[in-house]
Amino acid sequence: TETYENILVETKGKVGIIRLNRPKALNALSDGLVTDLEKALNAFEDDAAIHVIVVTGSERAFAAGADIKEMAKFTYQDTYLNDFITKKWGRLATCRKPTIAAVAGYALGGGCELAMMADFIIAADNAKFGQPEITIGTIPGAGGTQRLTRAVGKAKAMELCLTGRMMDAEEAERSGLVARVVPAADLMDEALKTAEKIAGFSRPVTMMAKESVNRALETGLNDGLLFERRVFHATFALDDQKEGMDAFVNKRPPNFTDR
Ligand code: CAA
Repeated sequence: TETYENILVETKGKVGIIRLNRPKALNALSDGLVTDLEKALNAFEDDAAIHVIVVTGSERAFAAGADIKEMAKFTYQDTYLNDFITKKWGRLATCRKPTIAAVAGYALGGGCELAMMADFIIAADNAKFGQPEITIGTIPGAGGTQRLTRAVGKAKAMELCLTGRMMDAEEAERSGLVARVVPAADLMDEALKTAEKIAGFSRPVTMMAKESVNRALETGLNDGLLFERRVFHATFALDDQKEGMDAFVNKRPPNFTDR
Protein backbone atom coordinates (compact mmCIF):
# COMPACT_ATOMS: atom_id res chain seq x y z
CA THR A 1 0.00 0.00 0.00
CA GLU A 2 0.98 3.60 -0.64
CA THR A 3 2.37 5.74 2.19
CA TYR A 4 0.86 9.09 3.13
CA GLU A 5 1.95 12.02 5.26
CA ASN A 6 -1.14 12.40 7.44
CA ILE A 7 -2.66 8.93 7.65
CA LEU A 8 -1.47 5.35 8.15
CA VAL A 9 -2.96 2.74 5.88
CA GLU A 10 -2.91 -1.04 6.27
CA THR A 11 -4.95 -4.05 5.30
CA LYS A 12 -5.92 -7.05 7.41
CA GLY A 13 -7.37 -9.75 5.23
CA LYS A 14 -10.39 -8.22 3.54
CA VAL A 15 -10.43 -5.15 5.82
CA GLY A 16 -8.82 -1.84 4.87
CA ILE A 17 -7.76 0.31 7.83
CA ILE A 18 -7.13 4.05 7.69
CA ARG A 19 -5.69 5.68 10.79
CA LEU A 20 -5.77 9.49 10.94
CA ASN A 21 -2.31 10.49 12.05
CA ARG A 22 -1.57 14.10 12.93
CA PRO A 23 -0.99 13.52 16.65
CA LYS A 24 0.32 17.01 17.39
CA ALA A 25 -2.93 18.59 16.20
CA LEU A 26 -5.29 15.93 17.62
CA ASN A 27 -5.85 14.79 14.00
CA ALA A 28 -7.30 18.14 12.96
CA LEU A 29 -8.59 17.64 9.42
CA SER A 30 -6.19 19.78 7.40
CA ASP A 31 -6.39 19.93 3.63
CA GLY A 32 -3.40 17.59 3.49
CA LEU A 33 -5.13 15.06 5.73
CA VAL A 34 -8.43 15.02 3.87
CA THR A 35 -6.58 14.80 0.54
CA ASP A 36 -4.77 11.70 1.84
CA LEU A 37 -8.03 10.31 3.20
CA GLU A 38 -9.80 10.75 -0.11
CA LYS A 39 -6.97 9.00 -1.98
CA ALA A 40 -6.85 6.09 0.46
CA LEU A 41 -10.64 5.65 0.33
CA ASN A 42 -10.53 5.67 -3.48
CA ALA A 43 -7.82 2.99 -3.43
CA PHE A 44 -9.79 0.73 -1.06
CA GLU A 45 -13.00 1.25 -3.02
CA ASP A 46 -11.18 0.21 -6.21
CA ASP A 47 -9.54 -2.84 -4.62
CA ALA A 48 -11.79 -5.88 -5.10
CA ALA A 49 -9.94 -7.72 -2.32
CA ILE A 50 -11.17 -5.19 0.27
CA HIS A 51 -14.69 -5.74 1.59
CA VAL A 52 -14.92 -3.32 4.52
CA ILE A 53 -13.16 -0.06 5.45
CA VAL A 54 -12.38 1.00 9.04
CA VAL A 55 -11.45 4.62 9.78
CA THR A 56 -9.91 5.37 13.15
CA GLY A 57 -7.73 7.91 14.96
CA SER A 58 -5.60 7.74 18.09
CA GLU A 59 -6.52 6.92 21.68
CA ARG A 60 -6.69 10.64 22.43
CA ALA A 61 -8.54 11.85 19.37
CA PHE A 62 -10.45 10.51 16.41
CA ALA A 63 -10.28 14.07 15.10
CA ALA A 64 -10.72 17.43 16.89
CA GLY A 65 -12.36 19.01 13.85
CA ALA A 66 -11.44 20.98 10.80
CA ASP A 67 -7.98 22.54 11.12
CA ILE A 68 -8.84 25.86 12.75
CA LYS A 69 -5.36 27.30 12.15
CA GLU A 70 -5.68 26.63 8.42
CA MET A 71 -9.33 27.69 8.21
CA ALA A 72 -9.09 30.91 10.26
CA LYS A 73 -7.87 33.00 7.33
CA PHE A 74 -10.29 31.69 4.68
CA THR A 75 -12.53 34.20 2.94
CA TYR A 76 -16.08 33.49 1.88
CA GLN A 77 -14.82 33.26 -1.70
CA ASP A 78 -12.26 30.58 -0.71
CA THR A 79 -14.87 28.47 1.01
CA TYR A 80 -17.49 28.88 -1.71
CA LEU A 81 -15.23 28.35 -4.70
CA ASN A 82 -13.59 25.26 -3.17
CA ASP A 83 -16.91 23.99 -1.82
CA PHE A 84 -15.02 23.82 1.48
CA ILE A 85 -15.39 20.95 3.29
CA THR A 86 -17.48 18.25 1.83
CA LYS A 87 -15.80 18.09 -1.56
CA LYS A 88 -12.95 15.93 -0.26
CA TRP A 89 -14.27 14.75 3.11
CA GLY A 90 -17.54 13.61 1.62
CA ARG A 91 -15.78 10.64 0.01
CA LEU A 92 -16.37 8.56 3.14
CA ALA A 93 -20.12 9.12 2.81
CA THR A 94 -20.15 7.99 -0.83
CA CYS A 95 -18.25 4.72 -0.33
CA ARG A 96 -20.30 1.78 -1.56
CA LYS A 97 -18.46 -0.71 0.61
CA PRO A 98 -19.42 -0.90 4.29
CA THR A 99 -17.48 1.55 6.46
CA ILE A 100 -16.95 1.68 10.23
CA ALA A 101 -15.65 4.61 12.28
CA ALA A 102 -13.76 3.37 15.35
CA VAL A 103 -13.76 6.41 17.62
CA ALA A 104 -11.67 7.00 20.72
CA GLY A 105 -11.16 10.36 22.41
CA TYR A 106 -12.34 13.56 20.77
CA ALA A 107 -14.67 13.48 17.77
CA LEU A 108 -15.49 17.17 17.56
CA GLY A 109 -16.81 19.39 14.81
CA GLY A 110 -15.59 17.94 11.54
CA GLY A 111 -14.33 14.92 13.49
CA CYS A 112 -17.85 14.09 14.63
CA GLU A 113 -19.13 14.82 11.14
CA LEU A 114 -16.55 12.51 9.58
CA ALA A 115 -17.46 9.72 12.01
CA MET A 116 -21.12 10.18 11.10
CA MET A 117 -20.30 9.69 7.40
CA ALA A 118 -19.34 6.10 8.18
CA ASP A 119 -22.08 3.45 8.15
CA PHE A 120 -21.81 3.12 11.90
CA ILE A 121 -19.66 4.19 14.79
CA ILE A 122 -18.07 1.92 17.38
CA ALA A 123 -16.96 4.10 20.27
CA ALA A 124 -14.36 3.62 22.98
CA ASP A 125 -15.67 4.40 26.44
CA ASN A 126 -13.46 7.53 26.48
CA ALA A 127 -15.00 8.95 23.28
CA LYS A 128 -16.40 12.48 23.31
CA PHE A 129 -18.67 13.79 20.58
CA GLY A 130 -19.69 17.36 19.89
CA GLN A 131 -20.27 20.15 17.42
CA PRO A 132 -18.37 23.05 19.04
CA GLU A 133 -18.33 25.25 15.90
CA ILE A 134 -20.65 27.75 17.59
CA THR A 135 -17.90 28.51 20.12
CA ILE A 136 -15.57 29.68 17.33
CA GLY A 137 -18.09 31.76 15.43
CA THR A 138 -19.29 29.31 12.81
CA ILE A 139 -21.63 26.37 12.33
CA PRO A 140 -21.07 22.72 11.34
CA GLY A 141 -20.26 22.51 7.63
CA ALA A 142 -19.98 18.80 6.87
CA GLY A 143 -23.26 17.37 8.05
CA GLY A 144 -23.34 18.23 11.75
CA THR A 145 -26.74 19.86 11.63
CA GLN A 146 -28.13 17.18 9.29
CA ARG A 147 -26.67 13.76 10.10
CA LEU A 148 -26.61 14.46 13.84
CA THR A 149 -30.28 15.47 13.77
CA ARG A 150 -31.19 12.29 11.92
CA ALA A 151 -29.14 10.22 14.37
CA VAL A 152 -30.18 11.68 17.73
CA GLY A 153 -33.31 13.73 16.96
CA LYS A 154 -33.93 17.45 17.00
CA ALA A 155 -33.79 18.19 20.73
CA LYS A 156 -30.33 16.81 21.36
CA ALA A 157 -28.90 17.92 18.00
CA MET A 158 -30.18 21.43 18.58
CA GLU A 159 -28.78 21.52 22.10
CA LEU A 160 -25.37 20.21 20.99
CA CYS A 161 -25.10 22.60 18.02
CA LEU A 162 -26.28 25.62 20.01
CA THR A 163 -24.20 25.07 23.15
CA GLY A 164 -21.17 23.27 21.71
CA ARG A 165 -21.15 20.88 24.69
CA MET A 166 -19.62 17.44 24.33
CA MET A 167 -21.42 14.19 25.00
CA ASP A 168 -19.67 11.12 26.30
CA ALA A 169 -19.79 7.66 24.75
CA GLU A 170 -22.55 6.44 27.05
CA GLU A 171 -24.86 9.34 26.14
CA ALA A 172 -23.94 8.92 22.46
CA GLU A 173 -24.97 5.26 22.54
CA ARG A 174 -28.15 5.97 24.48
CA SER A 175 -29.18 8.61 21.96
CA GLY A 176 -28.47 6.50 18.89
CA LEU A 177 -25.32 8.16 17.56
CA VAL A 178 -23.12 5.12 18.07
CA ALA A 179 -23.81 1.45 17.49
CA ARG A 180 -21.79 0.17 20.43
CA VAL A 181 -19.45 1.30 23.22
CA VAL A 182 -16.46 -0.85 24.12
CA PRO A 183 -13.58 -0.45 26.61
CA ALA A 184 -10.97 1.88 25.10
CA ALA A 185 -8.29 -0.84 25.22
CA ASP A 186 -10.45 -3.14 23.07
CA LEU A 187 -11.56 -0.59 20.45
CA MET A 188 -9.52 -1.80 17.48
CA ASP A 189 -10.00 -5.49 18.32
CA GLU A 190 -13.76 -5.01 18.48
CA ALA A 191 -13.89 -2.84 15.35
CA LEU A 192 -11.78 -5.35 13.41
CA LYS A 193 -13.81 -8.31 14.67
CA THR A 194 -16.97 -6.55 13.47
CA ALA A 195 -15.37 -5.60 10.15
CA GLU A 196 -14.09 -9.15 9.59
CA LYS A 197 -17.54 -10.54 10.31
CA ILE A 198 -19.06 -8.31 7.61
CA ALA A 199 -16.12 -9.01 5.28
CA GLY A 200 -16.89 -12.74 5.52
CA PHE A 201 -20.27 -12.30 3.86
CA SER A 202 -20.95 -11.82 0.17
CA ARG A 203 -19.51 -8.48 -0.95
CA PRO A 204 -22.39 -7.57 -3.29
CA VAL A 205 -24.94 -8.53 -0.63
CA THR A 206 -23.32 -6.37 2.06
CA MET A 207 -23.31 -3.49 -0.43
CA MET A 208 -26.99 -4.05 -1.21
CA ALA A 209 -27.89 -4.13 2.50
CA LYS A 210 -26.02 -0.87 3.00
CA GLU A 211 -27.68 0.75 0.02
CA SER A 212 -31.12 -0.25 1.30
CA VAL A 213 -30.58 1.01 4.85
CA ASN A 214 -29.31 4.32 3.47
CA ARG A 215 -32.43 4.59 1.33
CA ALA A 216 -34.48 4.85 4.52
CA LEU A 217 -32.98 8.30 5.11
CA GLU A 218 -33.81 9.56 1.63
CA THR A 219 -37.38 8.41 0.93
CA GLY A 220 -40.86 7.98 2.32
CA LEU A 221 -41.76 4.57 3.76
CA ASN A 222 -43.50 3.07 0.74
CA ASP A 223 -40.78 4.08 -1.71
CA GLY A 224 -38.20 2.78 0.75
CA LEU A 225 -40.03 -0.53 1.13
CA LEU A 226 -40.28 -0.87 -2.65
CA PHE A 227 -36.57 -0.12 -3.05
CA GLU A 228 -35.77 -2.73 -0.40
CA ARG A 229 -38.03 -5.35 -1.99
CA ARG A 230 -36.52 -4.86 -5.45
CA VAL A 231 -32.99 -5.16 -4.07
CA PHE A 232 -34.08 -8.23 -2.08
CA HIS A 233 -35.39 -9.73 -5.33
CA ALA A 234 -32.07 -8.88 -6.99
CA THR A 235 -30.13 -10.96 -4.43
CA PHE A 236 -31.84 -14.01 -5.98
CA ALA A 237 -29.81 -13.38 -9.14
CA LEU A 238 -26.57 -13.95 -7.20
CA ASP A 239 -24.62 -17.18 -6.87
CA ASP A 240 -24.07 -16.18 -3.24
CA GLN A 241 -27.80 -16.35 -2.44
CA LYS A 242 -27.89 -19.91 -3.82
CA GLU A 243 -24.74 -20.76 -1.88
CA GLY A 244 -25.89 -19.18 1.40
CA MET A 245 -29.27 -20.89 1.42
CA ASP A 246 -27.91 -24.25 0.19
CA ALA A 247 -25.28 -24.13 2.94
CA PHE A 248 -27.97 -23.50 5.55
CA VAL A 249 -30.19 -26.31 4.27
CA ASN A 250 -27.26 -28.76 4.18
CA LYS A 251 -25.89 -27.65 7.57
CA ARG A 252 -22.46 -26.61 6.23
CA PRO A 253 -20.59 -23.27 6.27
CA PRO A 254 -21.16 -21.14 3.14
CA ASN A 255 -18.39 -20.39 0.69
CA PHE A 256 -19.26 -17.01 -0.80
CA THR A 257 -17.60 -16.03 -4.08
CA ASP A 258 -18.87 -12.43 -4.35
CA ARG A 259 -20.72 -13.35 -7.54
N1 CAA B 1 -7.54 22.68 14.54
C1 CAA B 1 -6.23 22.94 14.65
N2 CAA B 1 -5.49 22.58 15.71
C2 CAA B 1 -6.12 21.93 16.71
C3 CAA B 1 -7.48 21.62 16.66
C4 CAA B 1 -8.21 22.02 15.51
N3 CAA B 1 -9.50 21.74 15.36
N4 CAA B 1 -7.82 20.99 17.80
C5 CAA B 1 -6.70 20.90 18.53
N5 CAA B 1 -5.66 21.45 17.88
C6 CAA B 1 -4.28 21.58 18.32
C7 CAA B 1 -4.12 22.63 19.40
O1 CAA B 1 -4.05 23.91 18.82
C8 CAA B 1 -2.86 22.22 20.07
O2 CAA B 1 -1.77 22.63 19.27
P1 CAA B 1 -0.50 23.38 19.93
O3 CAA B 1 0.10 22.32 20.82
O4 CAA B 1 0.33 23.74 18.76
O5 CAA B 1 -1.05 24.53 20.71
C9 CAA B 1 -2.92 20.69 20.00
O6 CAA B 1 -3.86 20.38 18.95
C10 CAA B 1 -3.43 20.05 21.29
O7 CAA B 1 -4.67 20.67 21.62
P2 CAA B 1 -4.98 21.34 23.05
O8 CAA B 1 -3.72 21.84 23.66
O9 CAA B 1 -6.09 22.30 22.87
O10 CAA B 1 -5.48 20.04 23.85
P3 CAA B 1 -6.49 19.99 25.08
O11 CAA B 1 -6.42 18.58 25.57
O12 CAA B 1 -6.24 21.11 26.00
O13 CAA B 1 -7.94 20.26 24.42
C11 CAA B 1 -9.71 19.99 22.79
C12 CAA B 1 -8.51 19.35 23.50
C13 CAA B 1 -10.83 20.23 23.79
C14 CAA B 1 -10.16 19.01 21.73
C15 CAA B 1 -9.28 21.33 22.16
O14 CAA B 1 -8.10 21.10 21.40
C16 CAA B 1 -10.30 21.95 21.24
O15 CAA B 1 -11.27 22.53 21.71
N6 CAA B 1 -10.10 21.86 19.91
C17 CAA B 1 -10.94 22.50 18.93
C18 CAA B 1 -12.27 21.77 18.79
C19 CAA B 1 -13.14 22.49 17.79
O16 CAA B 1 -13.59 23.61 17.98
N7 CAA B 1 -13.48 21.80 16.66
C20 CAA B 1 -14.36 22.33 15.67
C21 CAA B 1 -13.55 22.88 14.56
S1 CAA B 1 -14.60 23.73 13.37
C22 CAA B 1 -15.11 22.57 12.28
O17 CAA B 1 -14.83 21.39 12.43
C23 CAA B 1 -15.93 23.06 11.11
C24 CAA B 1 -16.77 22.03 10.46
O18 CAA B 1 -17.90 21.78 10.81
C25 CAA B 1 -16.26 21.28 9.34
